[in-house]
Amino acid sequence: MNFHTRKWVKPEDLNPNGTLFGGSLLRWIDEEAAIYAICQLDNKRVVTKYMSEINFLSSAVQGDIIEMGITATKFGTTSITLFCEVRNKITRETILTIDEIVFVNIDANFKPVPHGKTKITYGSDKFKD
Ligand SMILES: CC(C)(COP(=O)(O)OP(=O)(O)OC[C@H]1O[C@@H](n2cnc3c(N)ncnc32)[C@H](O)[C@@H]1OP(=O)(O)O)[C@@H](O)C(=O)NCCC(=O)NCCS
Repeated sequence: MNFHTRKWVKPEDLNPNGTLFGGSLLRWIDEEAAIYAICQLDNKRVVTKYMSEINFLSSAVQGDIIEMGITATKFGTTSITLFCEVRNKITRETILTIDEIVFVNIDANFKPVPHGKTKITYGSDKFKD
């Protein structure tokens, strides 16, 4: 699994206890996962359908650098299921895991449509046109 996006934890990302606010982290994850799904399904129209249990294992504090890793674990007919891990970039300590984030491939009418993908693709051939 590649850890692409890094975030520098800043004052506006903290909860009143002074640690990373879970809502900020979930917003970052949802966007990161959506971009991953868009790239894998070659379709900018994807929506978040489902997130499984979110397991916060450790925290982060102001000044920490965190990184997000996403990988596809299942390609359905109209859906894609992703696994996510967030960790501290320096210590590699896991901050959070989400076993299943499901995105659905939709058409211009917001209806599910088959994406035709069966496996992870890599590289820069996407969106060439
Ligand atoms: C996403 C949406 C179009 C799906 O519509 P739907 O009528 O539930 O569609 P379907 O029942 O055909 O299911 C579509 C896919 O989602 C999967 N799915 C549906 N409910 C699920 C659930 N609770 N958990 C996991 N996967 C689920 C189905 O298995 C199917 O996948 P497959 O085609 O690969 O087998 C509709 O629920 C929706 O618009 N939801 C709101 C999305 C949204 O606003 N998200 C937040 C902002 S992005």
